[in-house]
Amino acid sequence: MHTGEQYHNFILSSRRNRRVRDRFQKIALDLLPEGADVLDFGAGTGIDAKAYAAKGHPTFVYEPSTAMCEYLAQYCRDEIARKTMITVTSPLTCKVQAVTANFAVLNHFADHTLLFEELSHVVHQGGFVLANMLNPYYLGDARYSWWRSNVMNLLRRGHYAIESESRIHRFAPRVVTRAAAPHFRLERLIPRGFGLASDPYMFLLFRRT
Ligand SMILES: C[S@@+](CC[C@H](N)C(=O)[O-])C[C@H]1O[C@@H](n2cnc3c(N)ncnc32)[C@H](O)[C@@H]1O
Repeated sequence: MHTGEQYHNFILSSRRNRRVRDRFQKIALDLLPEGADVLDFGAGTGIDAKAYAAKGHPTFVYEPSTAMCEYLAQYCRDEIARKTMITVTSPLTCKVQAVTANFAVLNHFADHTLLFEELSHVVHQGGFVLANMLNPYYLGDARYSWWRSNVMNLLRRGHYAIESESRIHRFAPRVVTRAAAPHFRLERLIPRGFGLASDPYMFLLFRRT
């Protein structure tokens, strides 16, 4: 079991993950109007939240894991003290322009219908949800038997979960898009086409309708 600090050091020690994070943050920051509020949903230790707050965005953080929260409180103590970052115990207490969920937060859900319904009360009309999810088409995973034994589930049903990772679910983008409707529509999927075979993560940008 990871403590918050172990997760923090682990995720920041990987150059590949840092590049993924930089791309994700850039998309979020380019889309956010100046000074707009953002909720980092499943914020972990607050790595993205700290970056959004540094760019002048009032930043709410929601994180259910006590271990993550404890390290977030330490890592982001200055932002929390200055109230440029606000920790919340429920995402429903916020009203923001954007919700971000980086590094597989939405893979902890078996179904996203209720989540998007709730987020429709959190995100202003015209705002967005940006999620970074595990890419179920990533061919780098084809060396694992769990990937090969779930290919048919993926093609037929568009989602699956494997026993060894009982709380992690993998989804085809169309399944998440269906769950997000009618409150949100998929505006962008990154990567597309053959890129989906070579990238372990996929970014989904949903616009609040
Ligand atoms: C791989 S970590 C990513 C943390 C952070 N977003 C980052 O970029 O480093 C996945 C996070 O999802 C959080 N999580 C799990 N279930 C959740 C839920 N139901 N709602 C919100 N967050 C959840 C976990 O506590 C964990 O912090």
